[in-house]
Amino acid sequence: MRLSRRAKALTAVAAAVAVLAPVAWFWQASLLPESYSVTDMGDHDHGGHTGDPSASTVPVDALTVPDDLEADVKVELTAEHGRFTLASGREVDGYTLNGASPGPEIRAEQGQLVEVVLENSDVRDGVTLHWHGVDVPGAMDGAAGVTQDAVGVGESFVYRFVAEQVGTFWYHSHQVSHEQVLGGLLGPLVITPAGGTGADVDVLALSHLYDGRRTVNGRDGEHRVAAEPGDTVRVRVVNTDFGVMPVWVDGAPFRVAAVDGTDLHGPEGVEGAVVEVTAGGRNDLVFTVPESGVVRVNLSASAALLVGEGDIEASAQPDDVLDPLHYGTAAPIGFDAADADREFEFGIGRRPGFLDGKPGFWWTVNGAMVPDVPMFTVAYGDVVRMRIANDSGEAHPMHLHGHHAVVLYRDGVAATGSPWWVDSLEVRDGEEYEIAFVADNPGIWMDHCHNLPHAAEGLVAHLSYEGVGEPFRIGGPAGNRPE
Ligand code: C2O
Ligand code: CU
Repeated sequence: MRLSRRAKALTAVAAAVAVLAPVAWFWQASLLPESYSVTDMGDHDHGGHTGDPSASTVPVDALTVPDDLEADVKVELTAEHGRFTLASGREVDGYTLNGASPGPEIRAEQGQLVEVVLENSDVRDGVTLHWHGVDVPGAMDGAAGVTQDAVGVGESFVYRFVAEQVGTFWYHSHQVSHEQVLGGLLGPLVITPAGGTGADVDVLALSHLYDGRRTVNGRDGEHRVAAEPGDTVRVRVVNTDFGVMPVWVDGAPFRVAAVDGTDLHGPEGVEGAVVEVTAGGRNDLVFTVPESGVVRVNLSASAALLVGEGDIEASAQPDDVLDPLHYGTAAPIGFDAADADREFEFGIGRRPGFLDGKPGFWWTVNGAMVPDVPMFTVAYGDVVRMRIANDSGEAHPMHLHGHHAVVLYRDGVAATGSPWWVDSLEVRDGEEYEIAFVADNPGIWMDHCHNLPHAAEGLVAHLSYEGVGEPFRIGGPAGNRPE
């Protein structure tokens, strides 16, 4: 058949429309409203239960520590945007708290009431503070648009929580977090038992990449702390970056005493193996300073904490990797994970499409993209099981707010070591974890990838409690953008 020119042109237009019309529809359908509540997002997944719509609703911002309780530890933190200098003299453009990054170390004893007043001096996007790993009351979680509005320039917000969990934690902004955390709006938080930790030397090794340079406690290169031969040392490694960090020790055998703030049960001595610290995660290493006088804790190959006096060369990164699934000895977890009230799937994938009108290759949760991601819904007291399967081509350090979960299985292999409680869990491509937790902290909680640019690219879902409502909105006048 021979077509006239005109007919050919019309056919071409029709073909273009046939292709573009659905694309335009998908583009249009992906556009997010100017403001929305996370509770209106996607699927309300009741994990095999029927929801209880009759439950009366408490707003998430009412879930606080009573106002009339006196604080034991009071801290004021002022957030500022600006340039600061690393120990090497290198200048960084980022964010400070009280003029420094990392911000000040907050230390509390178990049971103390911590009160932190956050002021925003000049950060135009607004700021918040999230207490990473601390299961704070629902209103204190610092997730902009979820548990509070972002704190604007000249404004302030008061965080109050009881330091119930002993361990190593950190705090960071949860407003435009992929940019503000990268820029240094963060700091360490340590909660010790009332009687002390039993260590002679108790130090932080908080790692952060500023402009791609690895630092320890804000110094690039090495940081030295004093210790004597025979001293017991606890080094609290905090990984504030977006990827897993290999840590190994030269000069002494060590034990991994705690992961994500929870002490391990019966941890054995380790030598010549790497400990992998998940992005957002913490590992406490304990060792004794030998007669030689010095121990070197390598935070990847580019930064180190030197403990004691004298020199010690960095060894090459060992090939062996400590597997927490089988490290330490078993102990009761305190609930029956085999008898779960709710079961959820968190399947991570990736596909081309539009996210808020932007074309890209975006992360998916159970096959769907933001805002059609699951809202995992629980009732207070539920035993919850969650399967996290990653089939997305990249690793994801998954972080659930407000709770600690215990690892049951990885790729079908049961955990046999110490109970392995996590708030930040590295899930590699092709891996599948089964975790469990007790829903004992009412609120609306983010559950996202702590490779924060991934969260900004849609790898985020939420856990909410029946009977808790959402007064806050993503977007809106406060410009809330938690990721
Ligand atoms: Cu450390 Cu939702 O974050
Ligand atoms: Cu990720």
